[in-house]
Amino acid sequence: MTAHDHPDHAPWWTDCVFYQVYPRSFADSNSDGVGDLDGVTAHLDYLRWLGVDALWLNPVMVSPMADHGYDVADPRDIDPLFGDLAALDRLVAAAHERGIKLTMDLVPNHTSSAHPWFVEALAAKPGSPARDRYFFRDGKGRDGQLPPNNWVSIFGGPAWTRVIEAEGPGQWYLHLFDVSQPDLNWDNPEVFADFERTLRFWMDRGVDGFRIDVSHGMAKPPGLPDMPVTDVKLLAHQDDDPRFNRPGVHAIHRAIRRVIDDYPDAVSVGEVWVHDNAAFAEYLRPDELHLAFNFRLLQADFDAEEIRSAIDNSLAAVASVGASATWALENHDVERAVTRYGGGAVGLDRANAMALVLLALPGAVFVYNGQELGLPNVELPDSALQDPVWERSGHTERGRDGCRVPLPWSGDTPPFGFSDNPHTWLPIPADWAQHTVERQRSEPGSTLSVYRQALAIRQSREELAGRRVDWLETPAGMLAFRRGGLVCVLNAGDSPVDLPEGRLLLSSAPVAGGLLPPNAAAWLA
Ligand code: GLC
Repeated sequence: MTAHDHPDHAPWWTDCVFYQVYPRSFADSNSDGVGDLDGVTAHLDYLRWLGVDALWLNPVMVSPMADHGYDVADPRDIDPLFGDLAALDRLVAAAHERGIKLTMDLVPNHTSSAHPWFVEALAAKPGSPARDRYFFRDGKGRDGQLPPNNWVSIFGGPAWTRVIEAEGPGQWYLHLFDVSQPDLNWDNPEVFADFERTLRFWMDRGVDGFRIDVSHGMAKPPGLPDMPVTDVKLLAHQDDDPRFNRPGVHAIHRAIRRVIDDYPDAVSVGEVWVHDNAAFAEYLRPDELHLAFNFRLLQADFDAEEIRSAIDNSLAAVASVGASATWALENHDVERAVTRYGGGAVGLDRANAMALVLLALPGAVFVYNGQELGLPNVELPDSALQDPVWERSGHTERGRDGCRVPLPWSGDTPPFGFSDNPHTWLPIPADWAQHTVERQRSEPGSTLSVYRQALAIRQSREELAGRRVDWLETPAGMLAFRRGGLVCVLNAGDSPVDLPEGRLLLSSAPVAGGLLPPNAAAWLA
């Protein structure tokens, strides 16, 4: 870990590079066409070669997989699709042997409808303790045929579903996401008690921390009032959405932190879709989360002004509470960067350039599997789509499958070494031979080479020290900042630009005659 500026007691995650493994799509060890834990273990040497410090595994707990693991039926066991507890133990041990930390993904906001608590709640009476762990309410209107309020699901459609009891239609239950993801009632003390068991269960097994799903969501507004606007963008969380970022959520984070503090090296990373800097910072007060995802950079277009403002705001947001910044260009919920930046060769050039911006920044960096290969989003046929958003939106929103296609490892034809089974859970495009790890490893200018070299420099060079980002004056369309002894220059304009003084350490595209081409970035010492 490189934490030159606080060598004494910087926690390991301060400047850490996390690699996000979407387990379904990383590597399949048992030929069922779906990635699994032993597949991750089998490729740890690749990840060490790449130079990452830690892994974040998307959920691998027991789940009917309606939302690919974010619908958890048993939070303290591994789904057979991914292996078993022994496979997890093997992965933790093998990662630690290589000096790689392992963090898991926990889902406190909701369970699966297959969770024993929800099954019990359905069988129980209105007003029973079993129903109080969730949000069961009587409907409005004659015979309660209307939902209790006007809330809509993040995945489309209403956020309430009516239960059919022995006597006919009964109460309604709340699900901000899929109908199979009932929201938990965090006012019920059993909910936290069970979550504490889950935290300890995994940390006792040697897991180094957690990404906490929908960290701004657990506390619901008292009385569940109607929302002012129901015509919301699907999959988006807006600051003015009254169902998220309630003041009560901070007491929950403080309670979680008290448990995590029993394991001094463990980290918590919150998924916090809160745009306002002051409100975002509240999650990072010293007794709440260690880190929180800041999505500004991932939401910025390939535009120098937008990128600079995303960086400034992300730094400002954490400065007030003395927390580490976090940076990401991709994850399993958003379009791949190559595609977002315009697609094709230009999109790839821009994504490579942004890799150098990303990896020059102070704080924790998250790299989503396949990002280091420059994978584009995939246009999947309708019949392949699996994201619940596709059905729930009435086939108007294609969902997130396009960024979740399995990784191409080697060879010239699908499934490119991902699996022995040609029927992978999502089809891999036939033209991905150009993107395989095998192919890119030996190509000096490949995306993989850019990532690997940047990670090596980030880890070993004194240049990349310091928490400060100092902007250098540049012509419009360009961006340049100094961090410690390193200068990162990005050309987001239309014509080549002169590089500033300095020794060229790395560039995302060939630099000839001291000129940085458009859609490229460089590191100078
Ligand atoms: C988070 C996850 C997303 C999931 C949702 C519901 O936003 O990142 O993939 O669908 O929570 O758990």
